[in-house]
Amino acid sequence: MPGKLSQPGAQRHLARAGPSAQHGPMKLLCVSPLDGGRPFERALTHLGHEATWAPDLDQALRIARRTPVDAALVPDDPAVLEELRGRYPHLPLIAFGERDSAIAAARATSWGAMGYLPSGAELEAAAEEVLGDLILRAAARNRLEERRRARLEETLRLSKFYSDVLTSVGQGIVVIDHSGKIRYRNPASARFLGETSSSKDTGGELAGRAAVPVLQQLVETLTENESRTQTIALEQDQKKMFLDLTTSVLRGADGKASGAVAIVSDRSIEKSLEQQLFHTERLATLGSLLASIAHEVNNTLTSVTGCAEMGLMVAEQAELNAADARTSGREQEADNLDGLAKEIRQIFDLVLEAGISCQTIADNMLQYSRQGKPTHRSQQDLNKLITRTVSVLGKHLGVEKVNLELALDPRSPRSRIEPSKLQQTLVNLIVNAVQAMLDMEDVPLDERHLTIETERDDEAGRAVIRVRDSGPGISPRRLEQIFQPFYTTKDHGTGLGLYICRRVIEDQDGTLDVESEVGVGTTFSITLPLK
Ligand SMILES: Nc1ncnc2c1ncn2[C@@H]1O[C@H](COP(=O)(O)OP(=O)(O)OP(=O)(O)O)[C@@H](O)[C@H]1O
Ligand SMILES: [Mg+2]
Repeated sequence: MPGKLSQPGAQRHLARAGPSAQHGPMKLLCVSPLDGGRPFERALTHLGHEATWAPDLDQALRIARRTPVDAALVPDDPAVLEELRGRYPHLPLIAFGERDSAIAAARATSWGAMGYLPSGAELEAAAEEVLGDLILRAAARNRLEERRRARLEETLRLSKFYSDVLTSVGQGIVVIDHSGKIRYRNPASARFLGETSSSKDTGGELAGRAAVPVLQQLVETLTENESRTQTIALEQDQKKMFLDLTTSVLRGADGKASGAVAIVSDRSIEKSLEQQLFHTERLATLGSLLASIAHEVNNTLTSVTGCAEMGLMVAEQAELNAADARTSGREQEADNLDGLAKEIRQIFDLVLEAGISCQTIADNMLQYSRQGKPTHRSQQDLNKLITRTVSVLGKHLGVEKVNLELALDPRSPRSRIEPSKLQQTLVNLIVNAVQAMLDMEDVPLDERHLTIETERDDEAGRAVIRVRDSGPGISPRRLEQIFQPFYTTKDHGTGLGLYICRRVIEDQDGTLDVESEVGVGTTFSITLPLK
């Protein structure tokens, strides 16, 4: 029974092909009772090789675990030969047997030996020469095996190196073969092409938006035998993506096209910076233009609101005259004057309301270009400021069309601010809230709630004003955009309101934030330092 090799290290020892295989004496493991191998012992010593003797396979394996050997001399027993061949495919085996025949040699070869030689009682000179030859061939085989292994190791090392390079690059790399099938794609390509469970093995369906243009260009490159470069713009996961795509024909060593390779680089960041720069420049130009228009408009509006106020004074005078006429018993005249005064008041109220609203827009434009009047800060009682704003401007802001509730902190939060700036912000927020709730036509008045609350947080050293509405709410995607200039969903909106509010509040060392839930409502929070 052949012995079992229990340690994996033994194979390395047995298959050794070190310096002794190339130069100098060979180390042979001889499996034979010393009696049977006596002639070999002499021959091997004579030939200048080293031999270690083992009486059976089990012992041979034990020895081999400790000492590396270059070749083994074993009896032509198929069990021993096949066992050794199976375990150590690279170890040269030289078989010996009692029979001196070509058939015995052929049989030994079929069991895995590289050569055979008969073992007579005395080994003749010719046989010794054959043994010498076989040992030299074993040495040559070892050298060959060593080179093959070194080449294989180098190939594996190189292949790992290239695979590391392809895995580490930030660009996506995709290779198709001549039939258009994906043969390789590096991990970075998953960002552009998408990753489905079945696409991992290169053949499956690709879910990414870039998959179609990339594959299309690869196939075109292959069919037209020509490299191509283009930038593609896509929307993926609700984000804009700009990809530089270069495809080239893949050629084998013989110069023939064997497929095509695509390199995909993400240019989204550069593109978005470019766009931001362009946008900023455009906004700056627009700012100066708006400022000059706003100045003109403001001047005209001052006369319009002035005239409206004079008109209201005329109505007031007519009311006084009506009262006089009534006390003098001129009822008809009094009725006429009252009717006239009412009509004049209605008309000029409308003119004044529209004028104030236009002034707010013009002020917004001036604020946008930061060319508004210089500001002076002073300590303000926020509760008072809110109450005043609502009572003076409330009607013009449309608060009578909703349920307004003031929930003001009795500890009167105070802050050093420019009052007109906070007023301007409150006006914008209230108008937005009212407009949002009026848009919900089927919601009855008593279900439209607008709450303005204040809170004094001494611990954090800040005051908070919240403008809360029960309007339609804002979706998370739109929420990211509402503070951007010119973002509006209204037919006649400028989209500057919130942008300016945030800037104005930040100029007062505060912050303006929003929380919203679709179907529930929106809350804008102004946070200011307590002073
Ligand atoms: N309380 C709110 N509820 C729902 N949506 C709102 C609310 N406030 C603002 N929005 C949304 O944010 C957008 C931007 O508001 P912003 O005040 O900046 O501009 P606008 O109101 O559209 O225009 P303008 O202020 O010039 O009248 C609005 O068009 C609206 O879609
Ligand atoms: Mg607005």
